Amino acid sequence: MTFPFPEQPGTTWAATPPPECPAHARPGAADGLARLFGPEAAADPMGLYERLRARHGAVAPVLLDGDLPAWLVLGYREILEVAGTPARFSRDSRNWRWFREGRVPPDSPLLPMIAWQPVCLFLDGEERNRLRLAVTDSLDRFNRRGIRRHITRFTHQLVDGFIERGEADLAEEFCEHLPMLVLTQLLGMPDEYGPRLVAASRDMVAGTATSVASNAFIVDTLMELVRSKHTTRGHDITSWLIDHSSRLTDEEVWNHLRVVLIAANETTVNLLKSTLRMVLTDPRCHASLAGGQMTLPDVVEQVLWSEPPLMTIPGRWAAVDTEVGGQKIEAGDMLLLSLAAGNHDPAVRPDPSIPLHGNRSHLAFSSGPQECPGQNIGRAIADTGIDTLMARLPDVRLRIPEEELRWTSGWMTRHLTSLPVTFSASRPAHSGATAGTAFERPPGTTPHDGSLPAAEPPATPPPGPPPAAPVPRGRTSWWAALKAWLRG
Ligand code: HEM
Repeated sequence: MTFPFPEQPGTTWAATPPPECPAHARPGAADGLARLFGPEAAADPMGLYERLRARHGAVAPVLLDGDLPAWLVLGYREILEVAGTPARFSRDSRNWRWFREGRVPPDSPLLPMIAWQPVCLFLDGEERNRLRLAVTDSLDRFNRRGIRRHITRFTHQLVDGFIERGEADLAEEFCEHLPMLVLTQLLGMPDEYGPRLVAASRDMVAGTATSVASNAFIVDTLMELVRSKHTTRGHDITSWLIDHSSRLTDEEVWNHLRVVLIAANETTVNLLKSTLRMVLTDPRCHASLAGGQMTLPDVVEQVLWSEPPLMTIPGRWAAVDTEVGGQKIEAGDMLLLSLAAGNHDPAVRPDPSIPLHGNRSHLAFSSGPQECPGQNIGRAIADTGIDTLMARLPDVRLRIPEEELRWTSGWMTRHLTSLPVTFSASRPAHSGATAGTAFERPPGTTPHDGSLPAAEPPATPPPGPPPAAPVPRGRTSWWAALKAWLRG
């Protein structure tokens, strides 16, 4: 990796990297690289991407935490090229030269995202195909109607929790909860796990004194779930992973359930928040929805273009010396894909104001052999959840001026911290609705239509409050730090 560009003031460049900065250790290294982390980058990530594009073109050299160097791929076509050619750009982080040369500090905050794990995310070739096939086959077995039934039921439950007040924070009381509640059903957990998993995952994000125990609760819950499904299979991802012809070990099963939870929850929470904000604040969108010109799925697609839930994703590692976007990439270099910058690449969208009605060729779900296998589930949660919410709160409106909405960013994601609204208060329509009571399977449907039967409780009851027992350090820090990282 060479760093051919001089310092340029007025941007978030690292004007004077310290002498120990790894960039200095490479031939051609120069000062003036953009840092992809820190308050300035977080304040305006899109502005940073555009400055990088103007300065370097489709692929820019950047520094990550600890001033570790990487290439940031900003061009739409270049992202397709990198994501689509694993023979040149591997997913195996053990290829990273900085790892191999022992230059990544053991406490680097990058490790949660890039330290190698025995899951499909970090594998190439046959082994990756074996594990990915098990995940995609299991996700594909759900049909749309079955999933929508759960989304509708949980949306009603959540709305019933605040509808009498006439006001709510939809980010906090709706968006942060719905995806995890639906996911518990897809994984085959009893309903009562949902609120506890939401609480445990939010506790970890907050980094409280009990976050270690909360992480242990999640991991132990997944391990217990796998054990229980050996006794009683259900219509769920856990059972299908166990039975898949890829013959996963139990450890591989619960590790991939954790991958699904991580990949699905945070992304879908962000998509819900951004879509709701657009529905509530964008007059064109409001008018379009009312006038029937733009359906809610169209709005979701528009958000996936303009505010992809994951702005930038790690990581690909060059398997050979190669070239992309006019930059010479050396074997062992790390590349990050800036999905948000790719979506705004003037080479493919010369006029960003042109509406994209229903166009799905954005990069929000990445592309190539790693492309998100849960995208239709994420879309279904966003559009069915919001559709149902709007039907319950027909006069809902933002309680504060749009300019007062607050965002938080990390280098991977940017999301709203709150979405305060008012609406006409009314009595809960589905008061007391709990699992399987308010929205039972419609008459005439059977589990074979993809609807999920009530999940079997595990052989051993789930733990009560998150256990305080110590858990292996690596597992805990990986999960907790990953969540904290995603949330910025
Ligand atoms: C709607 C919000 C979602 C967005 C924006 C999103 C986006 C992404 C992205 C960008 C990747 C990385 C692809 C790459 O490395 O090239 C990914 C991977 C993945 N996603 Fe999603 N995702 C969403 C929802 C979901 C849901 C709901 C599920 C499951 C129910 C899911 C399951 C996965 C899995 C298992 C992977 C890893 C795939 C692999 O490594 O082969 N995602 N997702």
